[in-house]
Amino acid sequence: MNWMEKELELLHDASLERCLRDSAPALHSPGYTVRGGRLLLNLASNDYLGLAQHPAIIETMCETLLTEGSGSGASRLVTGNRLPYRGLEEELSHWQMSEAALVFANGYMANSGVISALVGRNDVVFSDQLNHASIVDGIILSRAEHARYRHNDMDHLEALLNKHRDKRRKLIVTDAIFSMDGDAAPLSKLAALKRKYGTMLMVDEAHSGGIYGEQGQGLCFELGLQHEVDVHMGTFSKSFGVYGAYVCGSRTLIRWLINKARPLMYSTALPPSLVTGISTSLALVQADQWRRERLFSLSRLFRSSLLNAGFNVGRGDSPIVPMIVGDNEATLRFSEALEWNGIEAVAIRPPTVPNGTARIRFSLTASHIEKELINAVKIICAIGHQLGVIRS
Ligand SMILES: Cc1ncc(COP(=O)(O)O)c(C=O)c1O
Repeated sequence: MNWMEKELELLHDASLERCLRDSAPALHSPGYTVRGGRLLLNLASNDYLGLAQHPAIIETMCETLLTEGSGSGASRLVTGNRLPYRGLEEELSHWQMSEAALVFANGYMANSGVISALVGRNDVVFSDQLNHASIVDGIILSRAEHARYRHNDMDHLEALLNKHRDKRRKLIVTDAIFSMDGDAAPLSKLAALKRKYGTMLMVDEAHSGGIYGEQGQGLCFELGLQHEVDVHMGTFSKSFGVYGAYVCGSRTLIRWLINKARPLMYSTALPPSLVTGISTSLALVQADQWRRERLFSLSRLFRSSLLNAGFNVGRGDSPIVPMIVGDNEATLRFSEALEWNGIEAVAIRPPTVPNGTARIRFSLTASHIEKELINAVKIICAIGHQLGVIRS
């Protein structure tokens, strides 16, 4: 195993080594996290709507634990398909106005399972260069050809669609909101290309489900494109504040996935307490429009303040605000300085993002308070000046 030490040293020297750091929720200070006994403003969480500590969700989960026990005991195809699943999947298809829905254990398993169930050796997947790793891994698992198009570049996608015209099955897949950049996919153009070339279209709403749409149905819904999308995927781990994932689509799609999606077939079902917790969260996501409004108002304030200060914050307008630093080591130093000053925000480095684009990924939540964000911006600017990331 000596090779491992050597490779790890290389990673460390390139400021690319990852390590696990303990943190705990700050139960009485929403929007904060606790590390080493210190309270840190949490600008790194995907709990966008601030639901992860919601008492109604916790209460539902505790009640279900008492009646259903802690584990589901088997795959959904064996004896793990407990009753709460049926209720949740009905609620999901109603919410998404789809024929059917299927719950997966998490987003990674949904993406890897769905893609590898839809395409195989003789097929092709057209995938945005910045799509999430779980999509990339799904394509690898499927053995289909991976036709990567430049980020949001529809001309490049169309050239690839033409090149692969004769392939058996064709799938276009995209994040709706890109996880490390916070910008949106051109969904209506993707839908038009899907129609023109007769492909399937899959959209991952991990960072847009719960946030966009009148009842949080996602970006496809907000743009009126829900019926153009064949496979609508999202997670319960972010805006919903719980864990798990969903796929919505036609009855035939869901029937196919039950038979072909290996991560669903060969892995133990989510515990019933999580399933009922998700149902309670789904009701809150639909009802609490104020959370979305608050989230977007805080995000706009934060993003424009950093932009005005001279930071490169990319082109999005979602609650994900990337602050591009470029150099890996400088990015690490930036996040260490933030922590030192009471702010939790993570340095995102290659291979998660392309070389030379290391960044601090800030994410806003409905739990944040305007005054605290304004103070955080002042701290970020001071560090930016110190490290030479911004001038003037
Ligand atoms: C775009 C995207 N898709 C899928 C996933 C995976 O979801 P989960 O965390 O539920 O496995 C993530 C999460 O990190 C993501 O950002």
